[in-house]
Amino acid sequence: MPGLFISLEGIDGSGKSTQGRRLAQALHDGGHSVTLTREPGGSPGAEEIRRLVLEGATDRWSAETEILLFTAARRDHLEKTIRPALARGEIVITDRFADSTRIFQGITRGDLTETVDRLHALMIGVEPDLTLLFDLDPAKGLARATARAGAELRFEDMGLAFQTRAREGFLSLASRHDRFRVIDADADPDTVSARVWQAVAPHLG
Ligand code: TMP
Repeated sequence: MPGLFISLEGIDGSGKSTQGRRLAQALHDGGHSVTLTREPGGSPGAEEIRRLVLEGATDRWSAETEILLFTAARRDHLEKTIRPALARGEIVITDRFADSTRIFQGITRGDLTETVDRLHALMIGVEPDLTLLFDLDPAKGLARATARAGAELRFEDMGLAFQTRAREGFLSLASRHDRFRVIDADADPDTVSARVWQAVAPHLG
């Protein structure tokens, strides 16, 4: 597949969405064609699934049911948005991808790693070329995330211990795969953007 596939990962409130918008703009200004997208969502069908998984009570779905819903959303996103954009030779930046399922469903509420990995192999089967992990103290992240108004707080409502396990899980995953770059996200937005650019620039043709 031509194009470049970048994912942004991290705990809630890590600043990755702001940085995604900044990165997309910088790449666009540099003459690149960019698709900035997100998960869960990024296609009309997957955005409908987004509402189901991000709104409502924390015990609305089991971790197993969530794996199916997030994977269904991801499959639609891949078919309708990601693959077509990569085929056009674009840079695709997705705000979350399969690593979020590996962490949030695979390890934070018991060990469901094998279930996540098998379903991923069966239904998704691709990894990003580059994954930027925005790393931040979970207490700071949670304070930022819960300060945002809105209904999409199901995962934030799972609390600090949950976000702490997620951070540890992300760092451990990053240490095991070459495609990761860990970005220290505890700085002002301009400083973080400069760190992001340093990580992305070597991948530009
Ligand atoms: P966001 O706040 O970055 O938009 O992400 C929405 C929430 O969805 C976030 O709390 C993490 C959660 N999530 C999962 O639990 N599993 C997944 O596979 C994805 C993509 C997101």
